[in-house]
Amino acid sequence: ESLNAMMKAKGKLYFGNIVDTNTLAEPNATEILKTEFGMFTPEYSMKWNFIQASQGKFTFDNSDKVVDWARKNDKQIRGHTLVWHQNIPDWVDAITDKANLTKVIENHIGKVVGRYRGRVYAWDVVNEVFNENGTFRNSVFHRVLGQDFIPLAFEAAHKADPNARLYINEYNLDFPGPKIDAMMNLIQSLQSKNVPIHGIGTQSHLTSNKTVDTVPAQLKRLASTKLDVAITELDIRLKRPVDDAKLAKQKQEYELVTRACLEINNCVGVSMWGVSDKDSWIPSTLPEFDAPLLWNKKFERKVAYKGVVGVL
Ligand code: XIL
Repeated sequence: ESLNAMMKAKGKLYFGNIVDTNTLAEPNATEILKTEFGMFTPEYSMKWNFIQASQGKFTFDNSDKVVDWARKNDKQIRGHTLVWHQNIPDWVDAITDKANLTKVIENHIGKVVGRYRGRVYAWDVVNEVFNENGTFRNSVFHRVLGQDFIPLAFEAAHKADPNARLYINEYNLDFPGPKIDAMMNLIQSLQSKNVPIHGIGTQSHLTSNKTVDTVPAQLKRLASTKLDVAITELDIRLKRPVDDAKLAKQKQEYELVTRACLEINNCVGVSMWGVSDKDSWIPSTLPEFDAPLLWNKKFERKVAYKGVVGVL
């Protein structure tokens, strides 16, 4: 039985993963995506510079391929991501005028969310707005509009698709500190202004033996906002060299994280950020780490997979 079916049997909405034209071109990955998962996040094709690299020129070929694949296979989509400091074209980064940037954001979100209206379950409307110390990250959005870019983005997305679940997405909310404190304050402020926000995505790019044990308490804290919470980009990286002891520890950690979502009512689901260790973004981004996922480089199930199944 698939991970997705087991999560649904436990009353959750999905067990998800990423997909994009890269993995769709890889039969080993596509086969596992089809059989195990029910919710899909495009790894890149819905990011700003893949959609509107130059002003007014929209390219939806790849994102359409992903959405069409999902529909054909009776899968759901989490749109990712509308406003993020990365993958922003230079023409956006160079904007200094408030009215102009407001129009550009509203137009981008209106076009992208509008195109997939009714076909995308949720959107990561804003992504990674905080620094580690809880201050707002420097981006063209914050430089020009201050915090107002956040409600602006949510209102634009809600107008374009009133039924989509609208999320704020962030990493390193997995342990206590100023970043989750800032997130809790921001959520409180958005809720007090009736901003149409429905969920918090906690990316959970975890480090084995370091940032995993605090996940349950942190997830509970996020859930206390009464918004939906979702683990949106789960991987648990191991310090090189990988050995059986580290893989056994990783199994326990995947069990702990999966159980954390199961035990929280408004945790709607868990999404991984990749199928096979071969394709993970981690080794190329953080070279001292490896093997963060549930299938190894030969697409064989790791003990961590059995850990997740054991909990489900
Ligand atoms: C990553 C992709 O997996 C990589 O392929 C790409 O080179 C960089 O972005 N947080 C996010 C994701 O919200 O969009 C990022 O995805 C990983 C970190």
